[in-house]
Amino acid sequence: MKTLNAGVIGIGVIATTKHIPALLKREDVKITAICDIDTAKAEKAKEELGLKDAKVYSDYKEVCTDPSIDVIHVCTPNPSHHDITMLALNNGKHVHCEKPLALTYADAREMVDTARAKGLKLTSGTQWRYNPAPMRMKKMVEDGVFGDIFYVKSSQLRPRRLPAYGVYTSKAGNGGGVLLDGGPHSIDLPMWLTDNYDVASVYGVTFDKMKNFPEGNDLGPWDPENFDVEDTAFAMITMKNGMVIYMETAWATNLQQPAMGVVAEIGGNKAGADMVGPGFENHVRTTQIVDGKLTTTTEKIEEQINMNEYDIFHWIDAIQNDTDPAVLPEQAATVVRVIEAIYESAATGKTVFFD
Ligand SMILES: NC(=O)c1ccc[n+]([C@@H]2O[C@H](COP(=O)([O-])OP(=O)(O)OC[C@H]3O[C@@H](n4cnc5c(N)ncnc54)[C@H](O)[C@@H]3O)[C@@H](O)[C@H]2O)c1
Repeated sequence: MKTLNAGVIGIGVIATTKHIPALLKREDVKITAICDIDTAKAEKAKEELGLKDAKVYSDYKEVCTDPSIDVIHVCTPNPSHHDITMLALNNGKHVHCEKPLALTYADAREMVDTARAKGLKLTSGTQWRYNPAPMRMKKMVEDGVFGDIFYVKSSQLRPRRLPAYGVYTSKAGNGGGVLLDGGPHSIDLPMWLTDNYDVASVYGVTFDKMKNFPEGNDLGPWDPENFDVEDTAFAMITMKNGMVIYMETAWATNLQQPAMGVVAEIGGNKAGADMVGPGFENHVRTTQIVDGKLTTTTEKIEEQINMNEYDIFHWIDAIQNDTDPAVLPEQAATVVRVIEAIYESAATGKTVFFD
């Protein structure tokens, strides 16, 4: 198996907690470049994470055009995803671009089309699908347990967990708010569970009601003066087969949810199931008729899955084996299209129809 030389761009939270630790576990990957506009941050990560083979860069263009590099991981804030990915693809690199793939569907499509035309791999980081409970629920869908599925809900209403670091509260810096943060996971999960990315219409509402209430945030207080994005989003996504997805995502609410992560529930005419917390990642509660009686059972799934490693390991395997990555680039692009439609619907008050 070939040793892949990897370059990681944007050495912040997701690069140092997900991408680099998982890549370091692969014997067939060598991280030869790390890049951040803040080189002190990259130097610190190099030291702390033991990246002995990595050269530190400040300009992503040097990394994307380096012929010795095979794969690029884009972990910068959202507005730069498209340009960095395009430069990397046009220089023959496979690209793992963090979610959201891009800020617009047009940009996302260009990225997908370029990758496909060049025979390069492209994926994005919606790894919340890979917890044990959603993996089990997906298997239940495939086994026909639910019958005709007409409703899927995904929810990530955090009581107070806004990423107060970096650029998250700035439209110019981040491209938008929670819809670009928790949103991609909450939109991808129900579509992936039902293998249905065929959207008919989207109705969305967004709020910024919490921006002046920064106290009590898990990740420290944010600055209301530097806050021009939505902190809450709701959407009703109708699929072409008639199934409805209800999606809710928020950084800060006055609601105590059972879980901090993305939880899903599926409703069909034969059974329904949801993820129950605490421990929601590996508990599936199923309600169905058994021997003529409505019966609810909760199963704890013992299999351990590290969602971050699952994402990165499948990505590297896809390159090595010339297979599709677990998160298809087309799926990531559809997620961007839905996000764009939610923003449009929230601004106009109208439903957005897809062709
Ligand atoms: N998959 C997930 O669950 C998940 C979780 C968190 C973040 N993310 C995504 O990862 C990305 C980064 O988020 P984060 O929380 O790590 O942010 P962060 O602020 O911690 O890190 C971003 C880093 O990128 C650097 N940077 C900015 N512009 C750059 C450029 N042009 N070239 C090189 N470096 C540049 C910044 O200096 C910073 O160090 C975002 O797109 C976010 O949506 C995904």
